[in-house]
Amino acid sequence: MNKTEVTEKLQKYGQEHLLKYYDELTETEQQDFLNQVSLLDLDVIEKCKSGNGENAKGVITPLAAMELDEIAANKDSFTNTGINAIKAGKVGAVLLAGGMGTRLGSDDPKGMYNIGLTKDVFIFERIVRNLLDVVEETDTWIHLFVMTSDKNHEKTTKFFAEKNYFGYNPEYVTFFMQEMAPATDYNGKIYLEEKGKISMSPNGNGGWYSSMKKWNVTDIIEKAGIEWLNVFAVDNVLQRMADPCFVGATIERNCAVGAKVVRKAAPDEKVGVMCLEDGRPSIVEYYELTDELMNAKDDKGNPAYNFGVILNYLFNVSKLNEILGKNMPLHIVEKKIPYLDEEGNAVKPESPNGYKYETLVLDMIHLMDSCLPYEVVRNKEFAPIKNKTGIDSVESARELLKENGVEL
Ligand code: UTP
Repeated sequence: MNKTEVTEKLQKYGQEHLLKYYDELTETEQQDFLNQVSLLDLDVIEKCKSGNGENAKGVITPLAAMELDEIAANKDSFTNTGINAIKAGKVGAVLLAGGMGTRLGSDDPKGMYNIGLTKDVFIFERIVRNLLDVVEETDTWIHLFVMTSDKNHEKTTKFFAEKNYFGYNPEYVTFFMQEMAPATDYNGKIYLEEKGKISMSPNGNGGWYSSMKKWNVTDIIEKAGIEWLNVFAVDNVLQRMADPCFVGATIERNCAVGAKVVRKAAPDEKVGVMCLEDGRPSIVEYYELTDELMNAKDDKGNPAYNFGVILNYLFNVSKLNEILGKNMPLHIVEKKIPYLDEEGNAVKPESPNGYKYETLVLDMIHLMDSCLPYEVVRNKEFAPIKNKTGIDSVESARELLKENGVEL
């Protein structure tokens, strides 16, 4: 696009303020700026502004989870099935590490955060060690795919190389990058990060599989004969990936996806809970949970919506291929966004100052025909690090790691 076309495009969407410093840029910077605008999808922001971004829920009914006693009763069979699938190379792991981790407030990728007390213990290291447990148990290398973003790709790949992949086999580690989306102020006006640079953020964790496709990572999947992908967040340092029992349970129950869940600590706990929505598996967010749903009981008299997701899903690859390209709902998320103020000074805000636009992996569940919610023990498998202190923090995760015998 040339300058005139770019101006027209920006005017059409009320974003012409982005041209404020255009005349101050060098010729190369101007060309680069025009390219950035040409690639922008401005319809997305328009849709969100007019309210179409928020997505009405259908009819919610309970979806029973496989609870601990049922898992224990079938443990040997599930574990065998899982180990066989892993040994046959049918299981891969996908680490979602493209987020900005703004709540933790470090300039480095979240996985580089050192949670050690008497020695170095990096978040990435904890994750890799947990996966190595399964590698050892099955005597099989499991492909690990790591999603990064434009904001942290270089640092992440360098860090893995510097640390010798924390003992993992580099031939089984593949990095790929997710897409970016513009970030705006509260009125939907896109921020400038520099005079010639539009403020872009990672577009959420929902595009992981389509990004794998774009990066041709799916060729590796096909070639290796991987049939199941276990996708998980970077910040849960007690995370168990490619867990043979979970893999086996999902396969034996013939489900398109398995979801690790924990029993809610309280009815109003702020986690998304598994349910059926219009008869299909889905997740209802805590803020969408009405009092009626919160107090609903199942046939055993237990709370009907009692199992929260922990961002650990095992997807069947052929089902992922079927949903590829399907529309995903967009979520508007309030975040801290670095920007240029009126005088053109770069500002790093201390509190949220606008919105990012994201698709989320949890919305992929609703695109699947069947889902197995699989209960895990919270204190053994769930130690998310979102903040420095308080709930879901470095502090709380350290306590849980110690409780599980991890030296820090
Ligand atoms: P969060 O929403 O907790 O992570 O994502 P965040 O956006 O990094 O953190 P805050 O809200 O700014 O503090 C859960 C998981 O999804 C990944 C994160 O890296 C984390 O593993 N994620 C999130 C992506 O891979 N890409 C994204 O665009 C967003």
